[in-house]
This record gives sequence, structure tokens and C-alpha cells, in this order.
Amino acid sequence: MKRYHVTTFGCQMNEHDSERMKGMLESLGYGEAGAAEDADVILFNTCSIREKADSRFLAHLGHAKRLKREDPERIVGVGGCWAQSVKDEVFARFPFVDVAFGPGQVHKLAEFLTSDSLTAQGFFEFEGFTGHLPDKRAREFQAWVQISVGCNCRCSYCIVPSTRGREVSRPAGELVAEVARLAGEGVREVTLLGQNVNSYGRDLRGGRDGATSFAELLTQLDAIEGIERIRYTSPHPKDMREDVILAHAQLPSVCEHIHLPLQSGSSRILKAMRRTYTRERYMDRVALIREHVPDAAITTDIIVGFPGETEDDFAQTLEVCEQVGYDGAFTFIFSPRRGTEAGGFTEGLVAHEEKVERMQRLVELVQRRATERAQRFVGRELEVLVEGASRTDPSRLRGRSRHNKAVNFSGLAAPGELVPVRITGATSQTLTGELSLLAAASSAG
Ligand code: 5AD
Ligand code: SF4
Repeated sequence: MKRYHVTTFGCQMNEHDSERMKGMLESLGYGEAGAAEDADVILFNTCSIREKADSRFLAHLGHAKRLKREDPERIVGVGGCWAQSVKDEVFARFPFVDVAFGPGQVHKLAEFLTSDSLTAQGFFEFEGFTGHLPDKRAREFQAWVQISVGCNCRCSYCIVPSTRGREVSRPAGELVAEVARLAGEGVREVTLLGQNVNSYGRDLRGGRDGATSFAELLTQLDAIEGIERIRYTSPHPKDMREDVILAHAQLPSVCEHIHLPLQSGSSRILKAMRRTYTRERYMDRVALIREHVPDAAITTDIIVGFPGETEDDFAQTLEVCEQVGYDGAFTFIFSPRRGTEAGGFTEGLVAHEEKVERMQRLVELVQRRATERAQRFVGRELEVLVEGASRTDPSRLRGRSRHNKAVNFSGLAAPGELVPVRITGATSQTLTGELSLLAAASSAG
């Protein structure tokens, strides 16, 4: 049997795409190899969001080059956003690569492997959903569901519109059928994926009334028997309408967690980023969330050191973080990306040391507020979806709460079970606790 190995970089959409890549390869009769050394087909699913993502991947590619030299029959394939951003240039720079394909062309990999082609080939159209391909899930009780691909936003820092194309949504009926099938296979938690999930369906509507909005899609998926938790990522604050927030309050399976990317707390910088909302409008969304779902965890993404960001602009970002009290935040140093508007900015560039210093101040504040916020869970009993053994202490278990907090706890439970856990401690990232005695007693009886 021929074997494949996939290394994945980047976001959840890439993890999803890799699972589909694996599913497709298995349907062609390939088996998964534990390491690249043991594989006949070595694949990379790449990311290009920041410079660091590029360089991490390039280090891995060097390893594949050596393996290819040892055995020239091996196939080296490069898919995903980085591949899309360089296109055919990949073959000039890395002549040992046999096949390259963008995120919309995963299915072409099968075509390449089943043809007798001896020449390197690249596939870079914006064409299909990877969500149509067979899946190979990392955990049988959790699944990604691709509801749309591409992005119509024009955020000036972001490479994604150029790597994943214009937004296209999958029909709601098809998604409902997919999630029902997943529930039948034992999936309890689905995470809906799109570059901008809450603009879902606009392209299908084409001006007609009656097509499904994102909030309506949530309602339809919530009704599916067996699906206990629905998550989604990422929404855009500009499209965070009240109906979506109400879905969190009213639909039992929609989790109490909203990831609401801020990027900057300064309206002036938000304008230069082309985010199409102001600080006030963002805070208004947060107020609406707090009104309807007071206990919701809110997390965010923030970029520091965007060109033109002054100390005053940055202070406004800190202010917003203080006011919102995020449960967690991903913080990034601005990285100029080729082909993007901000990648070409030459004025107001922030010195690297300044960026690093701002980042430290931001992380400190975010962690302090996250720790403070997390204390609300201490003493409460939370529903935890068990994922397996704790990474740091194998005698304990690890899972996630509906708020998307990692929970380490003592007790006995199987992966995929939903169990009540009494929370006894909380840091900025993790909760600790113990399986509730009541539950243990009832499952023993
Ligand atoms: N530089 C730094 N961070 C970026 N992000 C996107 N593009 C860039 C860039 N050029 C961040 C944003 C986005 C997250 C996925 O990555 O915060 O929400
Ligand atoms: Fe990376 Fe963005 Fe592509 Fe995801 S969509 S793989 S984060 S560049």
C-alpha cells in the first residue's frame, strides 16, 4: 500500500482542508504514514498569513528535499495559501516539488496522482469546496464544516482574499444534510468554518428574499438530533447582527463563546485597515452580546504595529481590551504581506523594537483581564466535552467547556462524553476542576 504524510500549517480552515485531503487519499487506496520519512507522497498544507508562517514551512520543505534526494520516486506536494500566493514560481524556486495547488484545488491532487504525469504541475483556480471531499476526522466526535470559502473583504493587511478568492457559500440544504450525516456517525460538536462566516448566504441570495442567513442556518443546524455544540469561526464585527447574538441566547447547542476580531482599538487605524467599523460600533456589538448573553466568553485577534499606529492609537487598543475584558486574545505583530495594500505602505512604519514592546504591554493586559474574567467560573459546575488525557498530567483528563476554555480535571470519563465538572481554579488560559460527584455516582449506578 502506498502511504502519504500531511503536515498542516495555519488556521482551522487548513486543518479542515487537510482532513479532506487525507480522506481523498484514503479513498484512492493510500494509507497514512506516521512520519514523512515513511511516506511515498509528502504533502504540505501551507499558510501565508504572516512572514513567520512562510519561514516555518520553508524549514520543513528543506527536509522534504533531502527525502526526495534519497528516493526520487517520492512525490512532494505543496498545497494551501502559500502555494497559491507564489503559484508556478514554486517550481522555479523548489525544483524538487512535483505538484502544487491552491486551497480551491485540493481535488486536483487526486487527478495528478492517478495520471501518469511525470512533469510537475500547478493548479491555482478558485474552484471547488474542499467540504465536498470525503473526510478523515482527527476525533470522531468533533467535525469541521466548511460553510463558505473565500472572502469579499478588503482588509489592507490580509493576504487571504488573494489566496482563497471571492466568497462562495454552500447551500443550506447541503449543510444540513452533511451535519445530519455527521450526527449519525457520532459527532456531537461541529465548528462551522468560513473566512467570514456571518456573511454566509449573501452570494446565494442574489437579491432574492427567502435564502438562508447565517442566523437561520444556525437555527436549522441546532434542530439536528445529536448535535450538542455548535461553534463557528471567524465572524466579522461588521456582520455581527442581533439575530446571530440572539441565536447564542436562544439555541441550546450554539455555544457561549464569540470570537470577535478587533484588530485595533483606534478608529483611525481601523480605517487604514479597511475594517469598515469604528471603535464605537465594535463596542456597540460587545454591549449587545453582554446584554443578550451576559456569560459569553469573548475572544479576539489584535494586530500591533500596523503602519501609522502611534502611541495614542495603541493606547486606544489597550483601552478597548481593558473595557471588554476578553477571555482570550491572539495577538500578532504586523507583518507586511506581498500583494496586499498595507504591504506596500512606506510611511509611518513602526520600528521592530517598538512593536515588540507594545506587544508585551498588550499581552500583559490581556492575560490579566482573562485571569480576572476566568474567576467567574470558580465554584461553578461546567459541562465539559472530554477530549482525552491531560497533556501535562496523564492521570488527569482534558476537555473543553462551552465557553471554549480548556479544562483539566480529575475523574474517569471517555473521550466524546459530556460531563459536569466542578471548577476549582482558573488561570488566563486553563480551568482546573474535578468531575462532579453527583455525576460520578449516577454513572456508577
Ligand atoms: N500581519 C499580522 N497579523 C495579521 N493577521 C492577518 N494578516 C496579518 C498581517 N499581515 C492576523 C489578524 C487575523 C488573524 C487570523 O491574523 O489578526 O484576524
Ligand atoms: Fe493561513 Fe489565512 Fe490561509 Fe488560513 S486562510 S491558511 S490563516 S493564509
